[in-house]
Amino acid sequence: MRIVLVGPPGAGKGTQAAFLAKNLSIPHISTGDLFRANISQQTELGKLAKSYMDAGNLVPDEVTIAMAKDRMEQPDAVGGFLLDGFPRNVSQAEALDELLKTEGIRLDAVLDLEVPEEEVVKRIAGRRICRNDSAHVFHVTYTPPKKDGVCDICGGELYQRDDDSEDTVRTRLEVYHTQTEPIIDYYKAQGLVVTISALGKVDEVTARAMEAIKRKD
Ligand code: AP5
Ligand code: ZN
Repeated sequence: MRIVLVGPPGAGKGTQAAFLAKNLSIPHISTGDLFRANISQQTELGKLAKSYMDAGNLVPDEVTIAMAKDRMEQPDAVGGFLLDGFPRNVSQAEALDELLKTEGIRLDAVLDLEVPEEEVVKRIAGRRICRNDSAHVFHVTYTPPKKDGVCDICGGELYQRDDDSEDTVRTRLEVYHTQTEPIIDYYKAQGLVVTISALGKVDEVTARAMEAIKRKD
């Protein structure tokens, strides 16, 4: 299957993508994670992306689309993928459509995670991520690690993202409303959107998401 995950920052896209990708046996492709990997490896792309990410703005389309395309063309993504954080504006959605068209494939579903803004702010403020694996995501009150600051899964150090400060989160939410939300209408016109509430326990949301995706299969 080929699925796009959409939702505001902190909606739980990364958390859900880890479970959904496993259940559906498709790779989880997160442009945010790809940028963060480039930043930690200090590549030229990472240096460029960091300035935009730290301010809460989108990284320019040209580099983002090239990076996403390159990842989608890796052998493990031939049979399907779960896109998290891409596309993030209408021109990226158009570029993705073009790419899929040349390959003769199409998306199966666009899963839209709905969460009230006050919940998103709480989720981001308490988020802690493992330095060894960005799929190991915790929350200091909702899903706390057994030992403070230590990943339950691999023992790695947990850290808070640079762009999770209050000011940057405000900008990221604004960018989401103005630039990313319009892709929901873009995909509604293609009949691809399924909207679910992302409130409740992580496994409840996963079950809701799996159900919604199956309806589109
Ligand atoms: P990106 O990394 O994509 O960040 P984002 O969209 O802002 O989303 P987040 O990662 O903040 O949240 P999430 O929805 O994954 O939530 P999570 O599962 O962690 O992008 C970062 C930046 O990169 C962008 O600002 C931009 O600069 C750049 N970028 C990326 N893609 C780009 C693109 N295509 N074009 C241009 N620029 C791009 O969950 C949040 C917290 O809540 C966690 O602590 C988690 O444990 C907790 N939680 C999750 N689910 C639940 C639940 N059900 N109940 C309680 N707590 C929960
Ligand atoms: Zn870990």
